[in-house]
Amino acid sequence: MAERFKDLRPAGCDVRLLGIEGTAHTLGVALVDSTGATLAAAKNTIRPPGNEGIHPREAADHHARAVGPLVRQVLDEGKTGSDQLAGVAFSQGPGLGPCLRVAASAARALSASQRIPLCGVNHAIAHLEMARWTTHLAAPLCLYVSGGNTQVLVPRRHRYEILGETIDIGLGNAFDKFGRACGLGWYAGPIIETLAARAAADGAPFRDLPYTVKGMDVAFSGIVTAATHLHTSGMPLPEVCHSLQETAFAMLMEVAERGLAATGAGALTVTGGVACNGRLRQMLESLGKEWGIPVGLPPAATCVDNGEMIALVGLHQLESDVTLPIDQSGVIPRYRTDVPRLPWLEGLEHQAPSNESRWRGAEAEVIPVQWQGRPSVLKHRLLKASRHPRIDLMQRRMRTRSEARVMTAAAAGSIPVPALWDVEVDSTSLLIERLEATLLEELFWENVDGLDRLDPDETRHLARHLGATIAHLHALGIIHGDLTGRNVMISGVGPDCRVWLIDWGLGRFTQEVEDRAVDLRVMLHWCRLRGSLGNTFAAEVERGYHAVLPEEWDRVAGRLQEIETRMRYA
Ligand code: FE2
Repeated sequence: MAERFKDLRPAGCDVRLLGIEGTAHTLGVALVDSTGATLAAAKNTIRPPGNEGIHPREAADHHARAVGPLVRQVLDEGKTGSDQLAGVAFSQGPGLGPCLRVAASAARALSASQRIPLCGVNHAIAHLEMARWTTHLAAPLCLYVSGGNTQVLVPRRHRYEILGETIDIGLGNAFDKFGRACGLGWYAGPIIETLAARAAADGAPFRDLPYTVKGMDVAFSGIVTAATHLHTSGMPLPEVCHSLQETAFAMLMEVAERGLAATGAGALTVTGGVACNGRLRQMLESLGKEWGIPVGLPPAATCVDNGEMIALVGLHQLESDVTLPIDQSGVIPRYRTDVPRLPWLEGLEHQAPSNESRWRGAEAEVIPVQWQGRPSVLKHRLLKASRHPRIDLMQRRMRTRSEARVMTAAAAGSIPVPALWDVEVDSTSLLIERLEATLLEELFWENVDGLDRLDPDETRHLARHLGATIAHLHALGIIHGDLTGRNVMISGVGPDCRVWLIDWGLGRFTQEVEDRAVDLRVMLHWCRLRGSLGNTFAAEVERGYHAVLPEEWDRVAGRLQEIETRMRYA
């Protein structure tokens, strides 16, 4: 980091800031100077006995005993008196309430006694910023994979935008859950990695496990249950670990690719405890080669919980005047990653996807061709060396086959879809009509704050028409599975406008209210990420849906609300 904090220095005095991390099992303390250099750092982690997970109260007691000595040790090693500190930062959330309160109390005490500014830092932001700084990537797509979190994000407009996330448990917790069920003990990730590597080296067979990707969201509960069942049915543990790890990481690769395709981000990074996994790193490097983009892999020690990441974000907050009065410094156990405003991210904008990237989807290349004199596209699902060959072949074939079936059924039900001319499952290719229409996304790219090219009436009409089309689709017993602005095309305006749904790779047949709600949520969430007019657009999509399925609406709307509460720290 450059010497961007030197202006804060009183004459002849260097700015030094102390960071205290305490969200879960690790208490970390670090002292940094105005350049961001670490002068001293130490941490102390509670290790629960045997096969148990961490107990919040016991972890908090551990931190309460450790925090005083750790702060003194770090200040001594940094040859800094507490009266020389320019500020103190602490992990304000998300995390376990009792642990958060210990770190917060220690920081408040220092702030009050030394009369120095207090900075409350979002723990997830600290991980993400540490990854950005250590890899020197300005605006990468970020995979944040830890015990409690699994998210795909990009820095944008003063914040981190969450593109997708786990809708049940974080991957690290999924590994721990599996580890406890199979007697591997707590903090199972490294043990699973070792056993999986052994199975891979021995050429052990791969077993299919549930693979759950919904748009850019993932879920891990099903895979844990199925993997545990494989083990209790007698399958050797290394083989189960191998299949579990390969499947879970393949899901992460897919949502990362969807994020790259959706944002046009030109780089990729990863952080969180699971980012220490060597196989995950290998897969990410392979993914970067496939996309021709740099992949920044932060040193493992910076991916796990530590005091430095809190201190470094604290420095930025201090510079930007993002500090807290003590009476407003309560902890936030469910502090979402997209909430804090981060002034130093100003100017970090992704460019609108180029015309070239328009033809590069997350899982397929789309080649414009002429077929019997008609404008067409050849959609070819690409081989992905980044994932296990069996998962790769299965996913490509299954998606090609199901895409053809679902498109055919939707067209038969009068849903506007491009005509399907031909399908070849073995070569994982589809030959499809090329539409002369505009991507919904392009309308939003025109101006990040809205659909300026359309007048309000036209916009309302378009959004309602889209909502109605989705409802008609659901009434046929079909969901699209990836309803974002990249998969909706528009032709005409006003009452004559036409909405086309394209890219049916995640489409399937289902009558479940859960599936309908998730399908609709992907669209609504995509809209709401696009400023104030995006919110208006989403509300009109809901109205259009309601108009077609008024009786179904209450159930879908109820489930939508329930899904929102399921998201991490909603
Ligand atoms: Fe963490």
